[in-house]
Amino acid sequence: MATNRTFTMLKPDAVEKGHIGAILQMINAAGFRIVAMKLTQMTTSDAETFYAIHKERRFFPELVTYMTRGPIVAAILEKENAVEDFRTLIGATNPADAAEGTIRKLYAASIGENAVHGSDSDDNAAIEGAFHFSGREMF
Ligand code: CMP
Repeated sequence: MATNRTFTMLKPDAVEKGHIGAILQMINAAGFRIVAMKLTQMTTSDAETFYAIHKERRFFPELVTYMTRGPIVAAILEKENAVEDFRTLIGATNPADAAEGTIRKLYAASIGENAVHGSDSDDNAAIEGAFHFSGREMF
């Protein structure tokens, strides 16, 4: 059953370029409620664990370096059909393939530095949210 929650990170490139406000505005305008949110920085161990599914990929070392190089905004978002609707809002992994008006089309530079993360399933949304937030940080 759908939980109606998803997990997102505004990645280091988006934070460095000053896009936090604009991206949060798009998230609010699309009808998502913020359940949890923080500015934080992943350690190498955090990133290796969070992205463990990609550890055999060629881009894994680059991904870990990128995701640990500066702060991120981590958040849990709530809305009917949250996982799918949020992935529509952010657009394709590669901004070159992302639809017009999506967050990645507007703010992502490349497939590696793609500005924002969105969970790919309800199960992963719960796992990823619990990775970053304790129960008392969710509202
Ligand atoms: P995301 O889909 O949020 O989670 C996995 C991340 O790995 C992805 O965003 C990109 O940041 C990165 N990634 C995926 N494919 C590539 C690739 N071909 N080259 C470099 N980085 C990638």
